[in-house]
Amino acid sequence: MTVLYFVDTAILCLVTSYLLFKFLNRNFDYWKSRGVPFLKPHIFFGNYYDILTFKRTIGHSLSDMYNQISGPYFGIWVFNTPHFVAKDPEIVKQILVKDFKYFQDRTIASNEEADDLAANVLFIMKNPDWKILRSKMTPVFTSGKIKCMIPLMNKVAEDLTLYLTKLSMKQDSIEAKEVCAKYSTDVITSCAFGIEGHSFEKEDAAWRSIGKDMFEFTLYNGFRSTSYFFLPKLVDLLKIKFIPTHVSVFLKEAFLNTIDHRKFENSNRNDLIDILIKLQKEGELGTPIESTKIIAQAAQFFLAGYETTSSTISYALYELCLDRTIQKKLIREIRLTLKKHGAITYEAIQDMKYLHKVVQETLRKYPVLPFLDRATAMDWKIPGSNIILEKGTPVYIPMFALHYDPKYFPNPDTFDPERFSDEQINSRPTFAYIPFGSGPRNCIGERFGLIGAKLALVHILSQFEVECSNDTPVPIEFEPKTFTLASKIGLPMRFVESKRRPSFAA
Ligand code: HEM
Repeated sequence: MTVLYFVDTAILCLVTSYLLFKFLNRNFDYWKSRGVPFLKPHIFFGNYYDILTFKRTIGHSLSDMYNQISGPYFGIWVFNTPHFVAKDPEIVKQILVKDFKYFQDRTIASNEEADDLAANVLFIMKNPDWKILRSKMTPVFTSGKIKCMIPLMNKVAEDLTLYLTKLSMKQDSIEAKEVCAKYSTDVITSCAFGIEGHSFEKEDAAWRSIGKDMFEFTLYNGFRSTSYFFLPKLVDLLKIKFIPTHVSVFLKEAFLNTIDHRKFENSNRNDLIDILIKLQKEGELGTPIESTKIIAQAAQFFLAGYETTSSTISYALYELCLDRTIQKKLIREIRLTLKKHGAITYEAIQDMKYLHKVVQETLRKYPVLPFLDRATAMDWKIPGSNIILEKGTPVYIPMFALHYDPKYFPNPDTFDPERFSDEQINSRPTFAYIPFGSGPRNCIGERFGLIGAKLALVHILSQFEVECSNDTPVPIEFEPKTFTLASKIGLPMRFVESKRRPSFAA
């Protein structure tokens, strides 16, 4: 009797294990049966084992996969779901631009019940709502509107250099990412929420703390963003929030308080609030100014603009620490251009061609969002083949891998702004370099982000030189618990006031 019981139990265990194994592997012949080259998946995690267990960053892991396949595209699995990865810049162009009607949405979760604020930011919104709102928000980001915000940015940049002057007297090494995060926080509170963030005055300033809560490398933040990007069904099931509740409440209250104040003021600050109020009065927004849809448009500056801009400035400073010749050349350009224009204006910044190359090269080496994704809205024929990509298949564009492909960028680890000379730009495919994405769903804040980053660099480098300190990480160790490209320990370096360095005098 006992023997029979053990035999039955053993058979039951074997059958259950076999069925579980079959279930977990059920889609693993998907790409082979369609003739798409693929990488062998790991049971349960698919090809995302390293990413989902926070062993490797998304950018680096997709790069490893990219380098294993020689063709123009390949297939992977995230858990059990087949994903298509486009390698060839021509196919990337087709997906992002030419065949946009097939790829209008991202795969990221969007659930109004789980998180009403996040569901209304453009990055997360789905069609048809996205299309309507994007067209209404586009006029907010014209160069004319951004030019009007320069005085607000200059004021914050002056606070930044004053802060650096004081801190550099006390400290040999200063964490540049944190300083740049304070700057981008205050630029966004000023330009998008119409108030001062005070990040340089108090170490525990409310806005800076909110930014930390949103982007800190905690396991919970890792779980939150991983679920939104890779497990949208889990978000729907558990109603996971993309923005923590206290951050949402804070952002909503900040916006509504500003709107209340503006009703009694007649001043024109030329910030986002003024623009939204004007659009509202003209009937353009079609929804009350207090609605979540409108509040989300200010919140998205914070969600999409804060980490991206501060990372770009600090990575540029980091590379300048490592290459003093490039730094000297840039400082010279800044001094000469400021002499010509007399002040840090929009036109002066646009006139700094070498600065533009430095920032472009920074975004090549450190694309803050290292991959792009799209959902396939209709069956789509992969160019140059007879293979049909089925409706619903998630598509990835491994931007980080493209930016490090030696075919397009020889010696990709070398920081070389001359890669962005007209001659070199024309010698490679346009879609090998896409730090702001491309097509109708590209980064709406590109101009704002670029001018904000350049303006900070101009202010800093017209007063300081940057040098490596004993704490500067060489090479950088990247943090896998975040979907952006971030250094684990930040970017500590030395800021030396230039007046002590006569060789750099203008
Ligand atoms: C250096 C700074 C920045 C970088 C590198 C950057 C990068 C990106 C990238 C790669 C995308 C995805 C594009 C695609 O899928 O094709 C994106 C989307 C977006 N970015 Fe930025 N960004 C920056 C600054 C900003 C700023 C300052 C804002 C301010 C509002 C912003 C708002 C957005 C929004 C709303 C989207 C989604 C657009 C849509 O789906 O319609 N970004 N950004």
